[in-house]
Amino acid sequence: MIDEILPVAVTSAESFGDAPKAWLFPEEAAALGEVGGARRREYTTVRHCARRALGGLGLAPVPLLPGVRGAPGWPDGVVGSMTHCVGYRAAATAHRSDVRALGIDAEPHAPLPEGVLGYIALPEEASRVARLARRVPEVHWDRLLFCAKEAVYKAWFPATHTWLGFDGAVISPAPDGTFHARVLVPAPAQRDCVPLEFDGRWLMRDGLVLACALSPTQV
Ligand SMILES: CC(C)(COP(=O)(O)OP(=O)(O)OC[C@H]1O[C@@H](n2cnc3c(N)ncnc32)[C@H](O)[C@@H]1OP(=O)(O)O)[C@@H](O)C(=O)NCCC(=O)NCCS
Repeated sequence: MIDEILPVAVTSAESFGDAPKAWLFPEEAAALGEVGGARRREYTTVRHCARRALGGLGLAPVPLLPGVRGAPGWPDGVVGSMTHCVGYRAAATAHRSDVRALGIDAEPHAPLPEGVLGYIALPEEASRVARLARRVPEVHWDRLLFCAKEAVYKAWFPATHTWLGFDGAVISPAPDGTFHARVLVPAPAQRDCVPLEFDGRWLMRDGLVLACALSPTQV
């Protein structure tokens, strides 16, 4: 399903449950530490998805270790992103020569809890969500905004190693399954070629909202 919103340069794999044959490298198991079964299963299954996605790029399985602020480490020359929510796990990868930054996110397609939209949305985003909700009421636009913001953060952070708050980018979703993101904070001085605009696509199906944010190298 997620492949429907990704360009051909991006390989992906997904799972609608936990994969019984999924396994971890010892380094990945050590990095996870002592956690509950649900966390262990999502961490393991999403890495199984990531290894399938890397296979699509012609790359062998490698440990995918959580790094700074939880961002996973990818092989040299590769960008990637992972997501999991109830009933869904997915990973996407691409050669950095094709895609400079890539983030994906999945969320249950349900309204955000009371008060959360006010916390995550800039005033212009809240107005847009309200307008879109009147026009296309079958989409939970508040959840889609949240999902798109998380995807943007997952694309931004590995490229910059800097935090981006919910007020750090303005997201403009559209009913045609796209969104645009404009970062409002200055690019970190020590980093070259930081993407400050992201193109996004989203999909709502089977009780899920999926979003991807990316910055192709040609942009
Ligand atoms: C990090 C964050 C985006 C994760 O999103 P989430 O919906 O809670 O969780 P998901 O299951 O979709 O994604 C988790 C995966 O994201 C990846 N991830 C975690 N931190 C990351 C980071 N800093 N950068 C990139 N990817 C990250 C990991 O692969 C993680 O899975 P793993 O721990 O099993 O390896 C979220 O917790 C967060 O901190 N958000 C605040 C920042 C933000 O969204 N700003 C908005 C900017 S407009």
